[in-house]
Amino acid sequence: MSDSAESASAEPIIAEVMRLFRERGESEYGGESVTQAEHALQTADLALADGAESTLVAAALLHDIGHLLHQLPDDAPDQGVDDVHEELGGRWLEKRFGPAVTEPVRLHVAAKRYMCARQPEYYDLLSEPSRISLSLQGGPMNDDEVAEFERNAFHEAAVRLRQWDDEAKIVDKVTTPLQGFTEHLRSALVDSACES
Ligand SMILES: [Fe+2]
Repeated sequence: MSDSAESASAEPIIAEVMRLFRERGESEYGGESVTQAEHALQTADLALADGAESTLVAAALLHDIGHLLHQLPDDAPDQGVDDVHEELGGRWLEKRFGPAVTEPVRLHVAAKRYMCARQPEYYDLLSEPSRISLSLQGGPMNDDEVAEFERNAFHEAAVRLRQWDDEAKIVDKVTTPLQGFTEHLRSALVDSACES
């Protein structure tokens, strides 16, 4: 299939992403002082600034799409509920994108547990909501979990994504608008089609 044909089939998926952010993007980002859309755009901008490829920029933008797909309250972790958003998001994404997008998203919570195990000082950098969710997510990894995580081909991408994620909570930060990422989404979808 040609690139233009692949791009054409990408358009409904891009429209779906835009609709999800339009309808749910103003919801609170889990106890932080930014919205889901602000957090996603800041994460994607940090990926761009770090020179990430389009698939990882797309993963950064979409890493919390799982939060936009469920109807649990924004403060679910405060109520002791893990929304398992990385799995929800991963399942939604794998029907649309390839593993270079899907896997870092699926692993971004595991990456937090991994970094807490490998760099204990990392825990001190986490925000309070992130610490609350960490305990619901299983706490720092044990040695076996660390070894298994490092065997995953996408673990380094997941750690990069996690670091952008942790920094993307700045109130009133000016970011690239959502429409500014459509070309990266399109490239990521074309790359995904080539992988399959
Ligand atoms: Fe996030």
